Amino acid sequence: MSRNVIMVTGVLVILFGGFIWGIAGASEEPMCIPMGEITLEAPDGIEARRAAVEFPHSVHFDYACKDCHHKWTGKETIQNCTTSGCHDITESPKKSGKKNLQKDAELKYYKTAFHKQCIGCHKQIKNQNLILELSRVTTHDKMPDTGPTSCNACHPKE
Ligand code: HEC
Ligand code: HEC
Ligand code: HEC
Repeated sequence: MSRNVIMVTGVLVILFGGFIWGIAGASEEPMCIPMGEITLEAPDGIEARRAAVEFPHSVHFDYACKDCHHKWTGKETIQNCTTSGCHDITESPKKSGKKNLQKDAELKYYKTAFHKQCIGCHKQIKNQNLILELSRVTTHDKMPDTGPTSCNACHPKE
């Protein structure tokens, strides 16, 4: 899929000035889709231990929007990941005896949610590349690009 022209639920959206306006499904309200880098940082009131992360949004548009915006139905405006009721816990949850409850609680912790999604996908591509590399005779073909998996590559040292 071209990086400059993307489809939002079947409506062609046009790129201009670093932003595109998409018509989000049946809703009349246009949605502004950030095309450049989005700065991801610890929620208000949290003292960050690491530098904020510069996330190149449109570099990821080969994936479906819903791969990341997993609650989006295509109609409403997309919400922040840390919106109330989503990944809105700001501290690692205490251990609970129940495994399933523990898993749910962990995913509400914003740090776990981001790490799981971001690092999870980048690692998966690295693993696939490793299998590819081991399974072929020649090594001339270019491997698929992966994203960063080391701490400093996402949280640059200040
Ligand atoms: C690889 C994951 C990923 C993919 C794929 C992705 N996004 Fe995002 N998007 C994000 C993240 C992370 C944010 C920042 C959210 C935050 O600040 O909490 C974001 C932010 C946004 C925002 C701004 C929301 C706000 O805070 O106001 C919009 C709109 C958006 N994305 C639309 C899209 C659309 C449309 C697509 C598909 C073309 C898409 N995104 C694909 C991860 C992704
Ligand atoms: C579904 C898979 C997937 C998810 C989820 C994902 N990424 Fe990526 N990411 C990629 C791929 C593939 C690339 C390499 C793309 C390229 O270079 O063309 C990449 C590249 C990057 C890069 C390097 C871009 C560059 O220009 O070198 C950064 C930084 C990055 N991702 C950050 C993040 C962050 C932060 C998140 C979570 C908010 C995230 N990614 C979520 C697949 C993913
Ligand atoms: C693919 C990118 C990526 C990688 C790799 C990554 N992180 Fe993160 N990390 C994030 C994102 C996105 C957030 C949420 C935004 C924020 O708080 O900066 C986050 C949040 C955090 C937070 C909570 C916020 C804070 O600053 O206190 C800590 C601590 C953290 N990461 C440490 C690490 C450590 C340690 C590593 C290496 C083991 C690591 N991260 C690797 C993307 C990444």
